[in-house]
Amino acid sequence: MAKRILVVGSANIDFVLNTPYIPAPGETLISQGNYVFTPGGKGANTAVAAAAFGADVSFCTRVGDDAYGDRLISLFAEKGLDTRFIKVDRLEQTGLAVVMLEQNGKNRILAFSGANKRINDSDVEAAISCYPDAVITQFEVQPEAVIAAARTAADEGAKFILDAGAATSDFPLSKLEQIEILTPNEVETEILTGIRPNNLENCLRASIALCNKVDIKYVVLKLGARGCYVYDGKYSHLISPCEVPVVDTTAAGDVFTAALTTEFLRTGDIIDSAKFANAAGGLAVSKKGAITSIPTLEEVRNICM
Ligand code: RIB
Repeated sequence: MAKRILVVGSANIDFVLNTPYIPAPGETLISQGNYVFTPGGKGANTAVAAAAFGADVSFCTRVGDDAYGDRLISLFAEKGLDTRFIKVDRLEQTGLAVVMLEQNGKNRILAFSGANKRINDSDVEAAISCYPDAVITQFEVQPEAVIAAARTAADEGAKFILDAGAATSDFPLSKLEQIEILTPNEVETEILTGIRPNNLENCLRASIALCNKVDIKYVVLKLGARGCYVYDGKYSHLISPCEVPVVDTTAAGDVFTAALTTEFLRTGDIIDSAKFANAAGGLAVSKKGAITSIPTLEEVRNICM
């Protein structure tokens, strides 16, 4: 039977501009190619990816009472998400992210929260009625929603998975109940610990520092082109990356966390799940866009063989 996942998180429209490099202060630069307005948001990318990898996914988010909100809700329904816990917010616009995509596939993102910042603990408490096996969230919503997601997951006996996307150094990590898996990338690891995980020793130091802040079962550091690093409180493993052409890194981390969670719920094996997640994240990097870059389960399984 498919596992059930509740994703509490953001839904955005991504305004993507292609650029040869990031303009300097005071510089005006002409972008390349066409621009697009395309569905994204860390929560949405994660929810759609988890559904693509075989989970039954309920999505708890808010969108504005506008055309972008309508477009997102229709897409989520098409992708098979349970949309009962998506609220149309009358006070704020749908979230928007400006994505500057460089030729080397790296991006810089500036997000406008809009309706995402109004996801509150009542929204989360209502959504937990879907009886999930796991709850996934990120920091692209207010701390109140993240804390409510952790608390309700603990109350329901669901595993709490935290993707550290949009981390800030002042988030009160100690207010969270047990985290089953924390998945920061290199930048987020440095924001949360002050340690750049640029070599194995620093990966271990950063993982221990995270475990000292909050009760975490597994830390999985997303190291981009270096693969990922798994720490279980005692042992650590470095898992090699998939060799893929880098086209666009947008949403690769979200796809990684969705893949890690779905495979972990299925197998209970964190190392195999991290290998599966590496493959999924790698495939996402080889395609353009956020939701448009999510691979199929079959594509991930083929690359894992
Ligand atoms: O993680 C990628 C996402 O971050 C983008 O889709 C954008 O919406 C921002 O939230």
